[in-house]
Amino acid sequence: MTVLLHADQPDDVAAAAGILRAGGIVALPTETVYGLAGDALDPAVVGAIYAAKGRPSDNPLIVHVAAFDDLPAVVRDVPGSARALAEAFWPGPLTMVLPRRDVVPDRVTAGLDTVAVRVPAHEAFRAVLRLAGVPLAAPSANQAGSPSPTTAEHVLHDLDGRIPAVLDGGPCTVGVESTVVDLTSTPPRLLRPGGVSLEELRAVLGDVDVDPAVAGELAPDQVPGSPGMKYRHYAPAAPVVVVDGPTTEAAAWVRGQPELHPVVLCSEEEAAAFAGLDVVTYGSAADPASLARGLFGALRSVDRPEITRVFARCPADDAGIARAVRNRLLKAAAFRVVRAGAPAAT
Ligand code: TXA
Ligand code: MG
Repeated sequence: MTVLLHADQPDDVAAAAGILRAGGIVALPTETVYGLAGDALDPAVVGAIYAAKGRPSDNPLIVHVAAFDDLPAVVRDVPGSARALAEAFWPGPLTMVLPRRDVVPDRVTAGLDTVAVRVPAHEAFRAVLRLAGVPLAAPSANQAGSPSPTTAEHVLHDLDGRIPAVLDGGPCTVGVESTVVDLTSTPPRLLRPGGVSLEELRAVLGDVDVDPAVAGELAPDQVPGSPGMKYRHYAPAAPVVVVDGPTTEAAAWVRGQPELHPVVLCSEEEAAAFAGLDVVTYGSAADPASLARGLFGALRSVDRPEITRVFARCPADDAGIARAVRNRLLKAAAFRVVRAGAPAAT
């Protein structure tokens, strides 16, 4: 049995920190998704995080610290670019990859010479960090391969009985994971789009490359900059296909598919075009942040045995937070994309 603690109860926040101080692990809310936290400097605790999630050991974890000034404890060298990004976006949904210090166990970094670090914004997470007094390693608190959890119920669905407690802080306000940027390469490289957009990063850093794995454009002999990008993720039981193209053409294409029980995942604005089909909306196209907030819950809700295929629509604009939404849907689809209404190749 996993105990449900409440972030608005000071005793419960203290209890979560107590579990961490005693060498345990606990699921905590962040502004992006729920994380499964443990002392980042204790290899046995880090091992317990991997075991509870069923996570492959070659996929490194993000280390969460309370403030920019805590970076030198885990990072060898803090470049000016890190300070500039921290001033702009911390606390918040941005993770920086930097040269690691030896105190950070190999298990956290999967043997890499770098460590991913973030200062989260969620007040309950920050309170637990202060009380625990150690940097916290925290991957998303889902079973490996499932959509990241954006509510305490999602965490319990995946990990009930496998972890001692989850601190319920309500639904996450961002809804997709942090942006991961590698500051050890020149120019800096976007490894995972997330809560801070590429446009915002470029406004601070100037030139920023995008890892080819973000759009699934990795050549067979290329290795993604971020090990996690190579795993199928976020996927319900039924295969997912991303359907690009204008709404009308996409709807016609979907209706033409010989599927026993298709489900369409789209914005509220597009639902009418798919009337008569099983439709799950995940937010409003007019408010891309709402699409990010609703995405993982919607992906979980289409994880039903009777569904034979999920046809997913991405936001029209591949910019801002919508880039993260599209990246997660592409990953759920294992990069299967059809373009409805595309002119025949010449
Ligand atoms: O928003 C978030 O980042 C959430 C919350 C809990 O903070 N955490 C999260 O962690 O999404 P996780 O473990 O699900 O994803 C971490 C990603 C993975 O893709 C991993 O490969 C990458 O960060 N990563 C971690 N350390 C890295 C490193 N040293 N170099 C490159 N990529 C790294
Ligand atoms: Mg994850």
